Amino acid sequence: MRVGLIGYGYWGPNLARALNQTDKCEFVACCDANPRSLGKALRSYPSLKGFSSASELWDSVDAVVIATPIATHFELARQALLRGKHVMVEKPLAHSSRLAEELVELAERQSCTLMTGHTFIYSPPVNVVKNLIQDGTLGDIHYISLSRVNLGLYQKDVDVIWDLAVHDVSILLHWLDEMPVWGSSFGRACVQKDKNDVAFIWLQFPSGVVASIEISWLSPQKMRRTSIVGSKRMIVYDDTEPSEKIKIYDRGVVVKQPESFGEYQLTYRLGDMVAPSLSNVEPLLVEIDHFIECSISGRRPRTDGAFGLKVVQVLEGVAKSSVTVRPPAPTLVELEGVA
Ligand SMILES: NC(=O)c1ccc[n+]([C@@H]2O[C@H](COP(=O)([O-])OP(=O)(O)OC[C@H]3O[C@@H](n4cnc5c(N)ncnc54)[C@H](O)[C@@H]3O)[C@@H](O)[C@H]2O)c1
Repeated sequence: MRVGLIGYGYWGPNLARALNQTDKCEFVACCDANPRSLGKALRSYPSLKGFSSASELWDSVDAVVIATPIATHFELARQALLRGKHVMVEKPLAHSSRLAEELVELAERQSCTLMTGHTFIYSPPVNVVKNLIQDGTLGDIHYISLSRVNLGLYQKDVDVIWDLAVHDVSILLHWLDEMPVWGSSFGRACVQKDKNDVAFIWLQFPSGVVASIEISWLSPQKMRRTSIVGSKRMIVYDDTEPSEKIKIYDRGVVVKQPESFGEYQLTYRLGDMVAPSLSNVEPLLVEIDHFIECSISGRRPRTDGAFGLKVVQVLEGVAKSSVTVRPPAPTLVELEGVA
């Protein structure tokens, strides 16, 4: 299978490395509208054919990986699918659910693989947590709280929800296997005038699980920290930890039947902490291999177009309900009797 890469900006070089490393396909071409970026790609991989426009690329490839700005995903993926090419689009699949849906339908009609680059779904710690949720180790999940903040790379075209929360929403959908029934967000545009660089998202799922996602490009420290609190056990998943990314705590609060009147009814379980060993495969390599295998076999990718569409539906929903605070902040709730 001959594969081409469209977009060699910030993220494209990582995909190029994975495409070059795998023995499952031939990495044959790169396309970037910016001559400097294309030049960099061709210097790093001299055997590639280089193109400045996707329209010149199609005849050279059987499949493409698209790593261009979000607003261009739909049209590039549509053009590729119309020509019968298998497509992997970087996250998010498209900038609206209507367009994402159109891509899913087109891929179906063309019998082509359509995959979204939700890298975390191929990451060992994320999948270890999924197994612990599914096999009942954690009990009933009460809530999940996710933080993804740092002094990050500001995006020109999208706000922090469409850039960073994409990861967290994809992780939550993968873990819980259900769509939220309620969602909202709240944020503030601190540096750029019209794009939130900090936001907080709240979601509620049919099973009762509630989740909060904190995302920011404007934070002094890098934090990639998730707590999952269940009725039997609790987990802290810290993706910045070099080892022991997952810590499983045998902790909780137990309601005891009182033996005498007035006895305090809650007791705390403070058991051991276990840090399971994790495979150290690189998620991006697993993701690219999976895309190639699915394109060849016709198997449905784990993060197929339908999964990518669900993520876009959630992002769109919370972005619509978003409240953006601009200074001076309004008084949101006036409490009677509070000075
Ligand atoms: N999976 C991840 O963890 C991850 C991480 C970062 C970025 N991304 C995704 O990767 C994509 C690209 O992000 P980025 O930060 O690399 O953006 P970027 O702006 O740094 O790079 C995009 C590149 O695409 C080129 N380009 C734009 N329009 C084009 C067109 N029509 N045809 C050909 N080339 C075109 C630009 O010249 C540029 O070199 C986004 O969808 C982003 O969400 C994913």
